Amino acid sequence: MGMIMDIQKIKKFIDSLFDPEYLKEVNTLEKLEKIKIDFLGKKGIFTSEISKLKNLSKEEKITNAKELNALKNKFLEFYEKYKDELDSNKKPTPTKSDITLPVYDEVGKIHPLRSCRSRAIKIMKDLGFEFEDGPSVENCYYNFDALNIPKDHPSRNERDTFYIKESADSKEKRNILRTHTTAVQIRALESGKYSDNFKVFSIGDVYRRDDDTTHLPMFHQIEGFVVSEEASLATLKHFLLSFLKMFFEKEDLEIRFRPGFFPFTEPSVEVDIKFKSGNWLELLGAGMIRKNIMEKYNMKKGFAFGIGLERITMIKLGLNNMNDFVKNDLYWLKTYGYSSFEHICYS
Ligand code: PHE
Repeated sequence: MGMIMDIQKIKKFIDSLFDPEYLKEVNTLEKLEKIKIDFLGKKGIFTSEISKLKNLSKEEKITNAKELNALKNKFLEFYEKYKDELDSNKKPTPTKSDITLPVYDEVGKIHPLRSCRSRAIKIMKDLGFEFEDGPSVENCYYNFDALNIPKDHPSRNERDTFYIKESADSKEKRNILRTHTTAVQIRALESGKYSDNFKVFSIGDVYRRDDDTTHLPMFHQIEGFVVSEEASLATLKHFLLSFLKMFFEKEDLEIRFRPGFFPFTEPSVEVDIKFKSGNWLELLGAGMIRKNIMEKYNMKKGFAFGIGLERITMIKLGLNNMNDFVKNDLYWLKTYGYSSFEHICYS
């Protein structure tokens, strides 16, 4: 007893390993390791059987050793196979992330309006314009009265302009959401910061009760305002052309002036740009500041222009629906957003 070889016992043990019911239980590496110990460990059944070999005759030793070896190999085959299987099921242990590695995917993009806004600011600054800001909640004086816009002008209508109800001691002071950045011109003239030779620009949100594929109730304008002895339609054209050529990166860009009307400019012009197809597209309004406004602030000559940021961004990107800008559609943002900070200018 005990000293007699029991190869049968080992065979049984190994057979049981291949029983599907039993295998279901061996579902962790720990359990598999335990089986290995039960078999090959110091007190394992294989180890105890092999230690009995020394008691056998030479011939028996050889035949039994051969058989034991084959059983051991069978066991190891089983062990390796299941170890691999359990290893591949195991979730990788999280490794420490290297924050210095470059990121290739899922990087946020810069909204095209944001990027083109920065681009416009950079160009205006490069052209020598100084930035002037004004409030989005404006009063009727700066937005309309000071700009010669008559009391009965249709643009003052509540169907066109957003009025802010709580304000209004006097009609002039009534608060509205500004309908154009031209209001900033009056604020700049009033500030007393400028003598009669300066170039300023503004950029910001403006509001009108409009909503279709080419209009949004909130959009953005870039306003250029130049006061100088040299101010003329010719110098106005020079600045506009310089701005647009740089913005669209198109050296041979063509623009044309058509007569227009604004209560605060005379002459007033509508400016069109020419497309590759040969078609002209109306782009912006501009003109020489009216004498009564200039004289009020002891200035002689000046011109101004107002550019729609959405408009020029749509042309630059080849878009045809202004609503795309505000849809928050991630796929759209990935397609049209800018991935570099190339155009960003911190002002
Ligand atoms: N403020 C005008 C508009 O919103 C544009 C403009 C600006 C026209 C400056 C002339 C001069 O349509």
